[in-house]
Amino acid sequence: MLSHEAARAFYDRLGAGQDTQRFFEDPATRELVKYAEFHRAERVLEFGCGTGRFARELLTDHLPPGACYQGLDQSSTMVRLARERLASFGTRATVEQCEGSPRFDVAPGSLDRIVSNYVLDLLSENDMRLFVAQAERALAPEGRLCLVSLTRGTTLLSRLFIWGWERIHALSPRWVGGCRPIEILDLLPDTRWRIEHLNVVTALGMPSEVVVAVLLAG
Ligand SMILES: C[S@@+](CC[C@H](N)C(=O)[O-])C[C@H]1O[C@@H](n2cnc3c(N)ncnc32)[C@H](O)[C@@H]1O
Repeated sequence: MLSHEAARAFYDRLGAGQDTQRFFEDPATRELVKYAEFHRAERVLEFGCGTGRFARELLTDHLPPGACYQGLDQSSTMVRLARERLASFGTRATVEQCEGSPRFDVAPGSLDRIVSNYVLDLLSENDMRLFVAQAERALAPEGRLCLVSLTRGTTLLSRLFIWGWERIHALSPRWVGGCRPIEILDLLPDTRWRIEHLNVVTALGMPSEVVVAVLLAG
């Protein structure tokens, strides 16, 4: 597991290089878009927005014209890149640098969507639970939590891929950006969440868990 400081240093160095992962990631985020109903969202927060690539796609193709987007990332390089990429959207898009532990500084029940792609898989168990607690506070009832994470393989090739990945992670988490395969359903109690969509999408051997969960009222 990378500490917050080590993860920040890693992603500060990686910068725009993060976008080379798109061949592995885009099939899963495309599936997320199908089930997230972004066209009905007015306020969206993305945790770990990276270079702002997914945000630009959301603002250009999927969100209504008046919708606002807020990106958070703990890496100053990523925040700079995302701000540059989203500058043309003016006040509709803001990007802030955050501390290591997930904390959404927004009014309770004020968000329609919270998105996080390939970030939970590098957080500690404690931070993942904190993230879900923050989402439960910040989302409006019927708001959607939209997550894509590295996960366990479901095919021979993807099981082999993850077997190799875990060996590398065990030698040095840095070599794989701190990410390890996770399954997040256990973190979403069915008293608070309805699972709208759950699937594992495999691209070039890499398995990604796509989850869209709806926050129940009350
Ligand atoms: C694997 S990258 C994914 C970036 C982007 N979501 C994407 O799919 O291209 C992980 C991102 O999460 C950010 N990150 C890692 N730990 C974080 C934390 N504790 N709080 C906020 N951002 C974090 C990193 O700086 C990096 O931008």
